[in-house]
Amino acid sequence: MRIVLGVGGGIAAYKVASLLRLFTEAEHEVTVIPTEAATRFVGVATWEALSGNPVSNSVFDAVESVNHVRLGHEADLIVVAPATADLLARAAAGQAGDLLTTTLLMAHGPVLFAPAMHTEMWQHAATQANVETLRSRGVTVLEPASGRLTGADSGPGRLPEPEVIFAAALALAEAAQAAEENPSPRTSLAGRSVTISAGGTREALDPVRFLGNRSSGKQGVALAAAALEAGATVRFIAAHMDIEPPAGVELVRVESALELREAALDAAVDSDVVIMAAAVADFRPAAVSDTKIKKVDGEDAPVIQLVRNPDILQELVERRNTHGGRQLVVGFAAETGDAQGDVLEHATAKLKRKGCDLLVVNQVGVGRVFGQDENSVVILSGHGAQPQPAAGSKADVAAAVMDRVASELTQHFPVA
Ligand code: CTP
Repeated sequence: MRIVLGVGGGIAAYKVASLLRLFTEAEHEVTVIPTEAATRFVGVATWEALSGNPVSNSVFDAVESVNHVRLGHEADLIVVAPATADLLARAAAGQAGDLLTTTLLMAHGPVLFAPAMHTEMWQHAATQANVETLRSRGVTVLEPASGRLTGADSGPGRLPEPEVIFAAALALAEAAQAAEENPSPRTSLAGRSVTISAGGTREALDPVRFLGNRSSGKQGVALAAAALEAGATVRFIAAHMDIEPPAGVELVRVESALELREAALDAAVDSDVVIMAAAVADFRPAAVSDTKIKKVDGEDAPVIQLVRNPDILQELVERRNTHGGRQLVVGFAAETGDAQGDVLEHATAKLKRKGCDLLVVNQVGVGRVFGQDENSVVILSGHGAQPQPAAGSKADVAAAVMDRVASELTQHFPVA
């Protein structure tokens, strides 16, 4: 694959040398285009030596080969890392003052930005508006990682690890190639907006402790990828997850069930589909201590009293029903089966109780489903269709769920 690697002028430019190595070791042909500012952090010679190709940042070098047109046209993928606030602004405005920005304007293939900057710069309304503009044009802008930044500050703004950018870039290129080979995918959610909740909620006990669960968020991320591939716009409500949220979604981060409830009800107002894949705690501590709960010698261990959390899925169904009903609500159920009934009996009862349109049923036990890459489910329909088993990787299961979502939508809520 021919890759253009644009490098912005930030300290994280040095980490991009590792990203370049990952691309070249996977036998991709990489042309590096640093901005003028980037060459102050890492010199042209480094990029030339690591890529094995000449490096320039000026449209006036190699004029005879019309580099700024050729590079953009020929690239199967353009990756920009670190994408600084300045570079995002220039790309969003369509400026063409150097070789990288002209190449971006000539891009024929997918484009991925991996931002890195100080938290205030990332969260500034101007930067967020630029990111939104780029995303609305089909450009993928990764969320920056959180952690220690260049100075004493820390927060969102770190360049995602080279392996994360590498994986996202290859997935993007693969999806673009698949779309080119099969322009009308079997499942179409074009023009539909899908909200997906994922991960596990954390219910605070005190400033350092919480009640949590083993959900990794992997199935939710796979669902988001499948929905994006089917052409939907995706809002992703991420509770605690072991992996990065997917690229190309509108991301809302939450911690507790109550925060997730608010985000889900808010997003549901203009969603065609709401998928509750998050593992929501049914209970939370009745009281949250403002200070760390201390052990006191000679005193009994504290008893933690729990109260019920609202059932978000049920509330979504109730709101949908009172607001005209043109929305598909999908629940997930984790069941073990017991003396009262097997997994399917419990799940069928849950589908009726919660009133959702589809219920994706997992059989769980220690070491099963949570954190694993493989999954096996049965998709139950509240509209009379036969239970449908689906198994394989979490991506396979997500594709099966999205197929069912698309067909139930077409049947019950065709586009007006
Ligand atoms: N769910 C929710 N709000 C809650 C609990 C769960 O919206 N407070 C959603 C989950 O996201 C999932 C579905 O409900 O889509 C099923 O969750 P599960 O925990 O399996 O079922 P419960 O409702 O907790 O029922 P039970 O405790 O009887 O298993």
